[in-house]
Amino acid sequence: MVRIGLLGCGNIGGIIARHKIGIEITSFFDAASAKVDTMKGLLEHARAHYDFDNFIRDEFEILVEAASVGAVLQYGETALQRGKDLVALSVGAFADRGFRNRLEVLAGSLGRKIRIPSGALFGLDNLKIGQVSALDRLVLRTTKHPAAFGLQTQERTLLFEGSAEECIRQYPRNVNVAVALSLAAERPVAVQLWADPAVTRNTHEIHIAGAFGETTILTQNLPSPDNPSTSYLAALSIITLLKNLDRPLVVGT
Ligand SMILES: NC(=O)c1ccc[n+]([C@@H]2O[C@H](COP(=O)([O-])OP(=O)(O)OC[C@H]3O[C@@H](n4cnc5c(N)ncnc54)[C@H](O)[C@@H]3O)[C@@H](O)[C@H]2O)c1
Repeated sequence: MVRIGLLGCGNIGGIIARHKIGIEITSFFDAASAKVDTMKGLLEHARAHYDFDNFIRDEFEILVEAASVGAVLQYGETALQRGKDLVALSVGAFADRGFRNRLEVLAGSLGRKIRIPSGALFGLDNLKIGQVSALDRLVLRTTKHPAAFGLQTQERTLLFEGSAEECIRQYPRNVNVAVALSLAAERPVAVQLWADPAVTRNTHEIHIAGAFGETTILTQNLPSPDNPSTSYLAALSIITLLKNLDRPLVVGT
């Protein structure tokens, strides 16, 4: 069974701990000691860490990050150097091209893997054809309730239109999906962010056109039953990725 070290004991960390299937969480760490204490109740047989240096020396093969973009930037290289593979949910960290290249080269030289789960959207697997065939159009339209942006607008409002890189500067908490698309296709993504008081679900519409033809993928996310502030799909996606890690049969591009 794959041994996991969990970095981040918040919403998603908690869901992973409650729904672990086919994995063993041996260790966990969070910068907030109260979160570590809470996690002890869910992971009685794992080792609790209040300090990253002790955590990373512990025995596990894969560090699963469910913390923050800052945590990936801060700990990613050390994790690889300490012989761990990395599963990173805060994919926004990879919008920094210099960091991404450095991490990829390091992982390659050490024979380690960095995995990014599909997270809060469908369609990433075949979007990777963008790496081998031209795409004429790659557009992401994300719509959330204004409260998700800390707004109170009563009208459907276009908040942002532009590149994923510019989006991360203006809306750093809403770019994971845009960066994941861009990484999968290895192409720029045209991003629109809408605030709509009529929506009850976080919605991601992806339009892709190219030599293959054309597709539109609509994902309407419900909150997690355990935690209303987390898209259930993002949590399920990472649990599924972990469950499949040591299977000999790999499905999906
Ligand atoms: N890829 C996707 O589609 C997707 C979807 C949902 C969430 N996410 C990302 O996953 C991450 C976790 O989400 P969440 O809802 O569980 O967040 P959360 O705020 O509930 O929990 C994050 C936890 O990580 C800890 N943490 C943050 N930075 C840290 C650091 N530098 N060192 C140690 N601990 C640190 C915090 O104390 C907190 O307990 C976020 O970055 C979020 O943006 C990605």
